[in-house]
Amino acid sequence: MHEKNESKKLGLPPMGAKDFSEIEDWPGYFDAVLGKGARDTLIAALDSFEEEGFNNGFAVDLAAGEGRDSLELLSRNWRVLATDNHPEAFSYLWPRVPEKLKPLLTTKEVSFHDMEFPDCDLVNASFALPFCEPQHFEVLWNKIVASIRPGGRFAGQFFGNRDTWASLPNRSHHSRKEVLQFLEGFTIEMMREEERDDPPELRNPKHWQIFHIVGRKY
Ligand SMILES: C[S@@+](CC[C@H](N)C(=O)[O-])C[C@H]1O[C@@H](n2cnc3c(N)ncnc32)[C@H](O)[C@@H]1O
Repeated sequence: MHEKNESKKLGLPPMGAKDFSEIEDWPGYFDAVLGKGARDTLIAALDSFEEEGFNNGFAVDLAAGEGRDSLELLSRNWRVLATDNHPEAFSYLWPRVPEKLKPLLTTKEVSFHDMEFPDCDLVNASFALPFCEPQHFEVLWNKIVASIRPGGRFAGQFFGNRDTWASLPNRSHHSRKEVLQFLEGFTIEMMREEERDDPPELRNPKHWQIFHIVGRKY
């Protein structure tokens, strides 16, 4: 509310999810995206599991945020470990979980660099990995790969190094070549590269380069 009034006073368009992400105002981001549906990468991964006749596995939802993807996993009867390092993230998720699905959910407040991954069928990292500090990225990625069982999947996004935010400190951005190297060991089921400019009328237009990934581990 306060932010909206400020924006109006200054004659600026209101802040959106992107603006909150840029400054890592996570509660602002959670409010901005609250109620939005699951990410396409997660839906694609879950649909592929279902086509294989595998219907209710165990997923780690890394940096789950307000929980849009955790809610989708739970609705399909998956067990979920949702992690995030922001203390307010799970207060957006728990009240929206139907009572009968609550036993399927565990939440843990933990930073990328302290993550310990249990063995799982799926690691879901929607718009999460770019926010890992570069010095921790490789260890985090190796832990992700090790935790996924053969035949399990990774779903999520990498941000490219032509993205405007690549110049921000403490962000992890990669070239297409590097992303492909990370995915050695996976059959790539989706690698959709999105590269575009925001329309100029936005508050703080940026250039986006995003790789949307679903991979099945060999
Ligand atoms: C852009 S949001 C993505 C949230 C959700 N996965 C989605 O798809 O909307 C990035 C998330 O990363 C979390 N995050 C940022 N830095 C982190 C860190 N060092 N360790 C763990 N989580 C972090 C934030 O709290 C936030 O929930």
